[in-house]
Amino acid sequence: MNWEFIHRCNSVVLGLFIVTHLGVHLMAVVSPEAHSDGLSTMRQYYANPIVGGALLFSVAIQIVSGVAELILLPKTGWRVVRNFSGAYLILFMVVHVASVNYARHVDYVPTDYYWAAGAFAYAPLTIAATIFYGLGVFSFFAHMIAVWAIYWKSMPEQIFAASWLVALSITSAILLAFSGALYPIDMPAYVTEHYEGMFGSLFALLEEWLQNLSRA
Ligand code: HEM
Repeated sequence: MNWEFIHRCNSVVLGLFIVTHLGVHLMAVVSPEAHSDGLSTMRQYYANPIVGGALLFSVAIQIVSGVAELILLPKTGWRVVRNFSGAYLILFMVVHVASVNYARHVDYVPTDYYWAAGAFAYAPLTIAATIFYGLGVFSFFAHMIAVWAIYWKSMPEQIFAASWLVALSITSAILLAFSGALYPIDMPAYVTEHYEGMFGSLFALLEEWLQNLSRA
């Protein structure tokens, strides 16, 4: 099976979704309402069983072919960056898509601006959410730039430097927008309850364990 060919063809479809997806998240720099408008426009195209199912299938293909490539391909030069960012994207997509679907179908929480910002606002998760989402967005760009660097050997230095600058700027802008650094967020109580339900007992157990450790 030619996993590299499958991965490359599928990346065109999935990449289009991710670029628009990140474009919508950038609109949160303006306000949660602007993000909501962008998300509603995008949902007109994918929020139905056929396109939504095809999107999940495309995510699965990218993960399986990505794992196969990680195992099969040599790892030197920019291929190292491509493979590390790809490996993180696999982890990110598994966790992110699972948590989107858990929120939607198990807790019945709308997966909108507030759901995503809720992970940053739930104090025990703030640092983890920043690293998780920050690395998710940055790895997507790092993966693209590494692939360009591998195949476009004569890429001008200015384009190369500008690509990293764009990657850093977009990652920072999205993190600032979802972390509440740009405007106050009126977090709905059900979002906090959702994260409390998912992580509350785990953090309580951790706290108890740390207290016992400090007493010992
Ligand atoms: C800070 C960055 C990100 C945030 C805040 C975020 C947030 C969200 C939200 C709110 C949804 C639900 C959309 C809806 O209900 O219509 C979603 C879905 C999704 N996201 Fe992200 N996302 C981020 C980055 C990414 C990245 C980097 C990828 C891929 C590498 C990605 C892949 C997906 C996919 C595939 C879905 C669809 C899941 C499904 O419908 O079952 N996201 N994301």
